[in-house]
Amino acid sequence: MATNFISLRELEQLASIKLDSNAYQYYRSGANEEITKKENIDAFQRIYLNPRVLRDVSKISTKTKILGHQIDLPIGIAPVAMLKLAHPLGEEVTAQLAHQWKVPFTLTTLSTLSQSEVAKHNKDGLRFQQLYIQKNRQLTEALVRKAEKEGFQGLVLTVDAPILGKREADEKQRFVLPPHLRLEILEELAKEANIQLQTVANNQGSGLLKFFAEQLDQTVNWNDIKWLRSITKVPIILKGIQCGADAKLALEHGVDAIWVSNHGGRQLDTVRSTVEMLPEIVAAAGSVEVYVDSGVRNGTDVYKCLALGAKCVFVGRPAIYSTAIGGREGLNKMFQILQSELVSTMQLMGVTSIQEIKSDGIVHRSKL
Ligand code: GLV
Repeated sequence: MATNFISLRELEQLASIKLDSNAYQYYRSGANEEITKKENIDAFQRIYLNPRVLRDVSKISTKTKILGHQIDLPIGIAPVAMLKLAHPLGEEVTAQLAHQWKVPFTLTTLSTLSQSEVAKHNKDGLRFQQLYIQKNRQLTEALVRKAEKEGFQGLVLTVDAPILGKREADEKQRFVLPPHLRLEILEELAKEANIQLQTVANNQGSGLLKFFAEQLDQTVNWNDIKWLRSITKVPIILKGIQCGADAKLALEHGVDAIWVSNHGGRQLDTVRSTVEMLPEIVAAAGSVEVYVDSGVRNGTDVYKCLALGAKCVFVGRPAIYSTAIGGREGLNKMFQILQSELVSTMQLMGVTSIQEIKSDGIVHRSKL
């Protein structure tokens, strides 16, 4: 059976069999020598757990709150591009399963399903819209308005991508968007704004991607955060913060949450693992919530991030790969594994609720 994996570590290899190399290399690749991609995973081995014993661990709750919303597990779905490349039902599956598991779902701007369709499948789930501040601010504003209308309760602004990282495997592959797929959100926005996309639907089917890359705005700076703050009341979550100094600036600019990310090692290679960035960012963030992604493959990884002060952990590639492997059943299995691993970690650590998870339960190898 496609879904008989028992750990998330198996997923990349299984996905390599299932996906064509165009899709697989796009998802798998990290920037340059992929040092950060590997570090994100290896770093968890440098952090040890420090269990307490003889505590009643017969009842465990994994419920918590982010931005005032109750969620059943502190594990959400990170924004991942063009999910129909992975599975014909793509974003439909991830939006549905996030609702079913009562966890946050983040929709990429590069979605192959429209915001309204995603909202339909995600029902009353907690959903966030990922965005970039694009050269054409009207397009950005239109995206925000649509997100508001479709019940998205957070705007996840990606700030680590003034340009896209150099993903060599992906470059060699010469990624193309297969012609049967459409970047629904971008296409709808461009149509409504009456923007003529001469590059759309060229014979490679990838013109819109080119348009998108051209829309990444290298002038974006902290003043644009002020602008975004001024045009919407929806909570703003800055994704891609990688040091305490920027966390402090985020705070000063009135953001509602900070999402620590190095984009799964896909942007600047040789930056630190996100779990090792967490302490300085949590310290700088004060009462602002901190989330994290990149490299989480196990319930113990989730636990360590929470112990270091993250309120929620997001997964990208594991969600893509499990969906690719088994659609709904595959993604469901991924959540089952992470949930049961988190619960058993909590039991073995002598902790019964998310709120009890504290930094005294972990120790970094460098401190031993
Ligand atoms: C887009 O954000 C990507 O990482 O490909």
